[in-house]
Amino acid sequence: MKKLNQEAMKDIIRVKSLISADVETLLNQQIKKEAQSSSAYLSMASWCDRNGFDNSAEYFFKQAEEERQHQMKFFRYVLDMGGSALSPEITNVKIEYNSFREIFEEALDQEISVTQSIKNIAARCHKEQDYVTVEFLNWFFKEQREEEYKARRALELFDLIGEEGTGRWEIDKHVGKIHYGNEAGE
Ligand SMILES: [Fe+2]
Ligand SMILES: [Fe+2]
Repeated sequence: MKKLNQEAMKDIIRVKSLISADVETLLNQQIKKEAQSSSAYLSMASWCDRNGFDNSAEYFFKQAEEERQHQMKFFRYVLDMGGSALSPEITNVKIEYNSFREIFEEALDQEISVTQSIKNIAARCHKEQDYVTVEFLNWFFKEQREEEYKARRALELFDLIGEEGTGRWEIDKHVGKIHYGNEAGE
């Protein structure tokens, strides 16, 4: 009898989610944000490819894949914590851009907004002493440091090189060489 009770207790513990309903909601919003980022980058890759900026197209294809991985990381985390991960619906994906430069401006804005949104989740987690999720989020802060650096670097090229003459062609060439970090990967 005693053994049975212990088994029953275990089940009760197992069904309980390890994250609060509020944190679960914020994480699901983040899943959507990462999916939106991925779709936006894919659109940017398409525009760049159509307009002859092959290196930038490759750069954005890679970013699109990374955002998909971010989405999956959040998705699996919610499930691992006993929550419900929701597959998001992505609508209103932009297809046309006014200029080559506008794409990089939007890319940087997007990364800044993602960093802010992860900060908001962390703030909520600190408030309710959810240090498990805080620890999980730390990987993303490091990732955002890299993502924002690359997006800023790309945009800087427009001022450094200038768009006149073969400028855009030169910018595209340099976008392909943007690199972050040292050999240790820090
Ligand atoms: Fe991301
Ligand atoms: Fe990103």
